[in-house]
Amino acid sequence: MQLQQSAPVKDTAHRKVIVWEAFDAADAMTQAAAKLYEQTLAADERIPWMWIEQSVQDRAKSKPRPGGWSRHLLLAAPEGRQDDPDALAGYVYGALLPGYGGYLCYVGVADWARRMGVGSRLYEQFFKVLRVDAGELGEPLPFVIWESHRPDPLADASDWENWTARTKLFDRVGGLWVDGVDFLSPNFAADEEDDEAPPVPLQLFIKPLDTPEAEFTPERLREVVGGLHERVYHNAPGSPMFDRTLPVGCEPRLRPARAAGGRKSERGELV
Ligand SMILES: CC(C)(COP(=O)(O)OP(=O)(O)OC[C@H]1O[C@@H](n2cnc3c(N)ncnc32)[C@H](O)[C@@H]1OP(=O)(O)O)[C@@H](O)C(=O)NCCC(=O)NCCS
Repeated sequence: MQLQQSAPVKDTAHRKVIVWEAFDAADAMTQAAAKLYEQTLAADERIPWMWIEQSVQDRAKSKPRPGGWSRHLLLAAPEGRQDDPDALAGYVYGALLPGYGGYLCYVGVADWARRMGVGSRLYEQFFKVLRVDAGELGEPLPFVIWESHRPDPLADASDWENWTARTKLFDRVGGLWVDGVDFLSPNFAADEEDDEAPPVPLQLFIKPLDTPEAEFTPERLREVVGGLHERVYHNAPGSPMFDRTLPVGCEPRLRPARAAGGRKSERGELV
């Protein structure tokens, strides 16, 4: 991959991008990732960075407990600049959930490094790392799943432009949209005491890996979506967010990620 123009330091042009795993929460590059995380994602889309930092620390100390999540924070920078916080090009964070699949939580690319393939590279590397994790457990890796918040119909043009960038990136890495599901998730930006904070509706995307795309029938997709609620958000069937995500008669199906890229009309139709 070639980096061109507007990188924060002149000689970044034409350097390859290196992706590596963070193992030290105090490292300047990990701290640069914290800044980028807060700059690139809206507050209601992200968990406190401290939780991610903690998982980096835990990973350096011990193996995940049996059945536990195997979490990874991967960082990207131009070759030779892996120690320069100003040159951090992007990050991805996620985990293998044994017995379920991969879950990609967050990805972000610095403004100067966008549209150069950094996001795609981070996804591909993340898939590889999870394959190794699953292989070590003697498990297949059926899929990797991720969530993304589609902007409001009346949101700024820049939000819609970013949504287009996201869905193109998802397409590029082989991600498919789970059409027919608004995944209701808790609003992390709200006060913990605020039970009234409306849930955040998210779109889901799946990269089929060891399970072929054709096997993601509506029934299997409902299991995958329900599994995400149970494992990640601890919402069981019968809880309001679970039941409102998967109402009776919900028939999810996989479609190209770019099909999720359109604006929704006031009546909720894609236009
Ligand atoms: C979404 C994001 C990660 C994309 O990263 P990136 O490194 O620019 O993506 P890539 O260079 O790998 O591009 C992947 C595809 O998306 C397209 N793309 C990227 N940015 C685009 C934009 N602004 N408009 C249109 N297409 C765009 C690329 O052209 C490429 O498609 P192609 O291969 O068909 O040409 C980046 O814009 C970002 O960090 N946004 C803010 C944080 C965010 O939204 N994270 C995702 C949370 S789910």
